[in-house]
Parts: sequence; C-alpha cells; structure tokens
Amino acid sequence: MEAKLKQLQDEALQQIEAAEGLKELNDIRVAYLGKKGPITEVLRGMGKLSAEERPKMGALANDVRAAITERLEEKNEKLEKEAVNKKLASETIDVTLPGRPVKKGSKHPLTKIVEEIEDLFIGMGYSIAEGPEVETDFYNFEALNLPKGHPARDMQDSFYITEETLLRTHTSPVQARTMEKHEGKGPVKVICPGKVYRRDNDDATHSHQFMQIEGLVIGENIRMSDLKGTLQVFAKKMFGEDREIRLRPSFFPFTEPSVEMDITCKICGGKGCSVCKGTGWIEILGGGMVHPNVLEMSGFDSKKYTGFAFGMGPERIAMLKYGIDDIRHFYTDDVRFLKQFQTQE
Ligand code: DAH
Repeated sequence: MEAKLKQLQDEALQQIEAAEGLKELNDIRVAYLGKKGPITEVLRGMGKLSAEERPKMGALANDVRAAITERLEEKNEKLEKEAVNKKLASETIDVTLPGRPVKKGSKHPLTKIVEEIEDLFIGMGYSIAEGPEVETDFYNFEALNLPKGHPARDMQDSFYITEETLLRTHTSPVQARTMEKHEGKGPVKVICPGKVYRRDNDDATHSHQFMQIEGLVIGENIRMSDLKGTLQVFAKKMFGEDREIRLRPSFFPFTEPSVEMDITCKICGGKGCSVCKGTGWIEILGGGMVHPNVLEMSGFDSKKYTGFAFGMGPERIAMLKYGIDDIRHFYTDDVRFLKQFQTQE
C-alpha cells in the first residue's frame, strides 16, 4: 500500500508538471483527489490493515494528498498568471495609431440666422417672446383686426384643426398675447421667432411650414421714424453697411399705415439685375404702426400708446444673405447643403 501511494504521488506530480491548461489541471485534481479517485480508494482499503499499520498509512495518505494539493495550487497560480500575461500581450493597444476622426454636427443655417437676428435685437434692448404653434382663431386673426369673414384672411391659407383652432399662419398672434400680458401698461419691446404654417404648395419660394420673426414695440410717442430707424439698423447689420432701405406703402389689417421694406440688391448694387427683376430693390419684410383697434383689443389705450410692428421671414433673409435659390433646402436635410454652413463653434 505504501508503494502504491508513492506511485500515485509520483504519477500525479508528473501529470501536474506536464499540464498546459487550467482545465487539464482541474481534470487531474478530480482524477486523483476526487471521491472516486485512487487515493480515496486506497484509504477505503485501510480497514484491512493491522492496527499499527493503520495510522502510519493514514498519515502517509494525508501527506500524499497534501503534496498533490500543494503542487496543484502552485501550478494553478502559474497557469493563471500565464493566461493573464498572454491576454495582456494579445490585447495591447497601439497608442501611436492615428485616431478615427469624429464627425461633428453643426447648427442648422436657419437656426444660425434666427440666433443672429435675435442677438441683433437683444442688443437694441428687445426681449424674446414665444407663443403656441396651435393657435386660436381669436389670437391668429380676430385680435389682429381680422374678424371672421374678413377678405384679408384669404392672404393666409390656413390649416384648421377645429372651427376655432388652427396652426398659426404667422407669428403676429404673439403680439396680441404679449400685449394682453402687459395689461395695457407700456412699454413693450419684443421679438417673437417661431414656426408658422400655411396651406401652400411647396416650391422654390413656398413652404407649408416656415419661420417668422415678429417685432413689436409699444410705448408713448412711438413713431414711424422709430420703425424706419430700427429697420435701417437691422438691414445694415444683417446685410452690410453699404445697403440702403426704402419703405413702400402696403396693407396689413393689423397696422395703419402699413409698409413693406425693400433693401438694395446686393448682386447689382441697385442698378437692376435678374435677381431684383430689374428694380434694384429686394423686398425683405412687412411692418407698420400698430392699428388702434389692435391696441384697444389687447387692453392698451390707443390715445396714450402707439407702437410699431414688423414681421420677417428668416428663410428669405438667409436666402438673400447666402445666395440660396430654393427654400426647400432648409427642410430636406441634405448634408451637402448643411455642410456649407459648418463653422467651428
Ligand atoms: N404677419 C404678416 C404676414 O405673415 C407679416 C407682418 C406684416 C407682421 C406687418 C407684422 C406687420 O407685424 O406689422 O404676412
């Protein structure tokens, strides 16, 4: 029995020595030290031994078991270390490799124009007001001196949601909402940027959804000359100091008198070309002095307060500023178009 145990120990140690992997090592552990292994077997046969031999063999068997266990642990540690080193070697990162460029997005050209216009007016003391895109017939039309059945409603084909609600056709309802909040106490000095909707067929100059920026100033002694001066500053800052403006009489139900503003054509410098249709002027926006009815409807005393308002289309302004020939470019998300406006921000 003694020889048998020694032989088992030698065999086991040899196999442990030769083992190349952790799985193999575990198999050896099970084979020698497991419940069905040869050492357990030998120990089971101890009953047949004499009383003096029994403790001797017992101690020997324990020594053999301990020797094998110790060697198994050493080898296990060694193999685990090797496995980690191998993994580290195979997963080494070459930090000298050039990185993959990260493609950065940028602000949409329309967002940029709107922000530029906002900044310009904020610089003149305006604050920004907003209103809902789903608007009531009252704010979109009635409060702006456009009662039901008024022929000027036809100027703005509308998306109605119910009899009394619609997608706002312009940002002018924000005028009425702002005045109402002021409860008849001036002054008011706001611009209102936002999306508007009209039942138009989309083409190079029309889009069923577009943007507007509304301006509204109310106070005592606000005059037409204030409107003209403000628009002049805006036009020169936006398009260049060399540009001139002119105001032409026009009609809007919410202003009296009403004007349209033209700016000298950038292409021909005012001489006349195909872009300005030979006139030397390009139309930019509409505006005028706030109609007394509009002031009164929103709670302002029209004998005490006067005001001016204007509305412009940032798409049109961006098209003129950057020479863009189709409004649909703003809404079709073609990266070839958008990329041209990419700047470091
Ligand atoms: N709301 C007008 C439109 O959509 C634009 C406009 C004209 C706004 C004159 C104004 C204004 O505030 O005074 O056609």
